[in-house]
Amino acid sequence: MDIKYNLKSSRRTEQFQPEGNVGFGNLRTDHMFLMDYRDGQWCDPRIEPYAPFEIAPGAISLHYGQSIFEGAKAFMHDDGEIYTFRLNKNAERLNTSADILCIPNLDEDKQLEAINALIDVDRLWFPMQDGACLYIRPFIFATEDRLSVSPSLNFTFCVILSPSGAYYADGVSKAIRLLISKKFHRAVSGGTGASKAAGNYAASLRAGQAAAEYGAAQVLYLDANNQQIEEVGAMNHFHVLKDGTVVIPTFTDTILKSITSQSMLELGHILGCEVRQETIMLDKFIADIEAGEIVEAGGFGTAAVVSPVGSYIFEDGRVVTVGDGEVGPSIKRIYQIFTELQNGQLEGPEGWVKRVERVAP
Ligand SMILES: Cc1ncc(COP(=O)(O)O)c(C=O)c1O
Repeated sequence: MDIKYNLKSSRRTEQFQPEGNVGFGNLRTDHMFLMDYRDGQWCDPRIEPYAPFEIAPGAISLHYGQSIFEGAKAFMHDDGEIYTFRLNKNAERLNTSADILCIPNLDEDKQLEAINALIDVDRLWFPMQDGACLYIRPFIFATEDRLSVSPSLNFTFCVILSPSGAYYADGVSKAIRLLISKKFHRAVSGGTGASKAAGNYAASLRAGQAAAEYGAAQVLYLDANNQQIEEVGAMNHFHVLKDGTVVIPTFTDTILKSITSQSMLELGHILGCEVRQETIMLDKFIADIEAGEIVEAGGFGTAAVVSPVGSYIFEDGRVVTVGDGEVGPSIKRIYQIFTELQNGQLEGPEGWVKRVERVAP
């Protein structure tokens, strides 16, 4: 790809050394990557200073939500180089979302090249603090200026970066509570649940507010018939049996195929336990917690890697505590192994971490 570089004259010249945890998603780097889709093809790849877009007020994404995104992280290893983690899986998933939202696919290699080039240009923005990362946010939105409801003919692919701090300051220490909701649903079969469609997240805000009213951090979403466990807010759900087996709900078209979950399914040999998928019936899940068959539970996702769940609350106020309600040993181990893989302290399967090459002019 022939990327055009229009670099800021005032760009960062020294490595970013923030004081205190920079948090998640608050900061931006100096540049963004852009590419447009018009006349039936992706064109004009370019890196420009981070700045507001010009977008037609009638753009389809603003009215009908034809917009998708991804979320990934890059880490700095002891050699001082930046490495992405399984970014090819994000590129693949962006195209899955694109298929679901009638958005043209963008070649995975081009996505990876775009992100590599952008990180390279802004590599001095990597925040030098423990557990930090560069959060990578690729997204595509419809730009055609038309008010009739049909797929846009024009799109923009953009990548922005956010220097972010450690999710857990001192390892995984606090277990969260989830609201088991029979009122709010995230997805139905035949809908957009398996995509990272912007609208899925807009639709989740109301449920998130309801969870907060119950003192819960997130909603545990059930299927539309309130029988099966599907997802946790913006994470996949999982539980751990007393023999250490990790169980994740089977991926369906109502569940986002989490890259963290997919990685877990391939890591059993390193974790020393079985990791499998099955359909999880809510009633059996609760009974198994109460009988001590299920000893830990949580969510998997890029933001936290793993979020332990200490208890569930139903909309009628009933509370079910998992184990002793604290963070269990399996979850601590999963978190440790995952972060060691991401930070290059542990060698993972071939191709999981990729060094960001120096390609910028
Ligand atoms: C709905 C939903 N489920 C699961 C996940 C976890 O996916 P991943 O592990 O790829 O971050 C996310 C976050 O991306 C999400 O938004």
